[in-house]
Amino acid sequence: MTKRIFSGAQPTGNVHLGNYLGALKNWVALQHEYESFFCIVNLHAITVTHDPKLLTESTRNLTRIYLAVGIDPQVSTVFIQSDVPEHAELTWVLNCVVRISELERMTQYKDKAKKQQQENVTAGLLDYPVLMAADILLYQTDLVPVGHDQKQHLELTRDLAIRFNRDYGETFRVPDAYIPKVGAKIMSLSNPLKKMSKSDDDANSRIMLMDDSDTVVRKFKRAVTDSGTEIRFDESRPAINNLLEVYHLITGKSAAEVEDHFAGKGYAQLKGDLAEATIEFLKPFQQRVREISDDELDQILERGREKASRIARATLQQVFERTGLTGSLKR
Ligand code: TYM
Repeated sequence: MTKRIFSGAQPTGNVHLGNYLGALKNWVALQHEYESFFCIVNLHAITVTHDPKLLTESTRNLTRIYLAVGIDPQVSTVFIQSDVPEHAELTWVLNCVVRISELERMTQYKDKAKKQQQENVTAGLLDYPVLMAADILLYQTDLVPVGHDQKQHLELTRDLAIRFNRDYGETFRVPDAYIPKVGAKIMSLSNPLKKMSKSDDDANSRIMLMDDSDTVVRKFKRAVTDSGTEIRFDESRPAINNLLEVYHLITGKSAAEVEDHFAGKGYAQLKGDLAEATIEFLKPFQQRVREISDDELDQILERGREKASRIARATLQQVFERTGLTGSLKR
């Protein structure tokens, strides 16, 4: 049987180069090898303060971005999380399997909770990884292509699947994370010790996929560098290492070719070439984003919803049977 992948991104703000290089680029590469499900996880996006009008718009925009980076709706299933209510239903069941202490240990929860005023931290934020586990387990997923920051959530997903299977009988496939060797943690352009992040207050810290050419040039120009002049991969010089990693991934040149290309050259050249290569990738991508019509988008999402629902319903039915939640209910 063809193996399955599932992954998703939150429609909060926009997608940055880290999201693309750490995750979306790999989805595109893997979609022909696996039966693929790519979800726009809007239920996750309401775990922090948000603007309802913007969320609807960002949900559609993110769908366009999935398609424009190269997700092929003829081979992959693209859908919106809230269109398939089984995600929320399975979350409830898994809430009765997870331990609160496991959730309180999640580093992303601790970081995000710190950013919110304490009295504003929602139960949804704490429960976020359980919803993520439900996303993955509903589709009997084999592999989950994500960036490094999702590793802990994947480990929890595996633990919950194993615990449920042990207590109620074999039900879920136990998924593996797919974290690329290079690109799983693209760093901020302003501080190479922090990951590139949507929620960073400093907009210059990240390249957004919808940035225009001037903005890309300006942001790379402002990117911090390390001491020393040589341009080569070197983990002890995190700023240059990060810029080279981006160049390597965006051009497809091997690490050796990249070092050759920059031998004897300075930081200004690196930043200029990086901006040029990024713009070369972004221009046609942004054109494709603009070309996708509302009708096309609606059709793709409706097909996605139907296919995802069928599989999600079958898994949830099994979960209900195993846990005694059937009663007289036949759905
Ligand atoms: P999100 O929306 O924060 O990010 C989407 C993907 O981008 C990766 N990523 C990065 N990769 C490399 N460098 C970075 N600086 C960087 N920043 C982000 C993330 O690891 C992610 O793969 N919880 C998830 C969404 C989600 C999900 C799921 C993912 C919900 N349910 C089920 C997989 C399976 C999230 O917030 O991703």
